[in-house]
Amino acid sequence: MPSNRILLVPGNHDVCLPFAAAPRIGLRGKQKTFTLGREEDNGRAELRAYALLPYLEFARRIVGEASLKATCVTGTSDSLDESESIAWVVDQFRHLGIVFYGLNTARPIDPNSLPGRRVHAHSLNHIKERLQLRPPMRGTEQPIVVGLAHHCPLSGEGDRSVTNPLDFRTFFSGDPMTALFLHGHAHERGFKYEEGGGYRVVVSSAPSPTVRADKRLEDTLRGFAMIELEREVGRVTRLRQWHYEWSSHVLEKRGPATSYRRTPEGTFVPEP
Ligand SMILES: [Fe+2]
Repeated sequence: MPSNRILLVPGNHDVCLPFAAAPRIGLRGKQKTFTLGREEDNGRAELRAYALLPYLEFARRIVGEASLKATCVTGTSDSLDESESIAWVVDQFRHLGIVFYGLNTARPIDPNSLPGRRVHAHSLNHIKERLQLRPPMRGTEQPIVVGLAHHCPLSGEGDRSVTNPLDFRTFFSGDPMTALFLHGHAHERGFKYEEGGGYRVVVSSAPSPTVRADKRLEDTLRGFAMIELEREVGRVTRLRQWHYEWSSHVLEKRGPATSYRRTPEGTFVPEP
């Protein structure tokens, strides 16, 4: 550590709520006391971005300052929405036929409550622009694009997914297409394959390796997801995925593995 091979995105528990509430706090100098403003006042809204400071310091220690700066695609404006988005593109594995992107879905930060689950459409555009900067590999062939965020990008029940999945769908159907998307939050294992108007994406939900029973959904175990990308002559041709779960102190493989083959445009379709 630090290692630029570790990819990080913030989750809802990475948003520091006392810092998020800072815009509501006022100081009464003479009395030497603090006041909490009314919810609707929202005071100095720009302070709310400090709620991500503990996460950013952690990311700096794990990934390294230079890597964070080099991969950041958040816009250069001072917009609070942009600074909350923490969007990045990691291009260092392109020679292996794969690129990664990630962004914060635990936003907007709310001075009065838990953060929202809304992806910033402009940040998706910044990611798209960065992905398009480099020419495709081998003539017209695209690398495999893998996305990463805390919440599920597709529609989901309750608080399981982002609140604006349509923005993700629009992005998924753009160029280049996202082949695989990884997320957490629900502490539940699962793989989904979704085809829609102009997109085709495999979505992997990872269980947590550590979360205790009362914080997990009923009948779910601790565990993690395994994803294997097979390559032939330097080109990703197949995806296989399966899970491991802790059951009575034994780590068990959950199968059978699901398998997908690559399409010419750089996405995956299920294998029979
Ligand atoms: Fe979460």
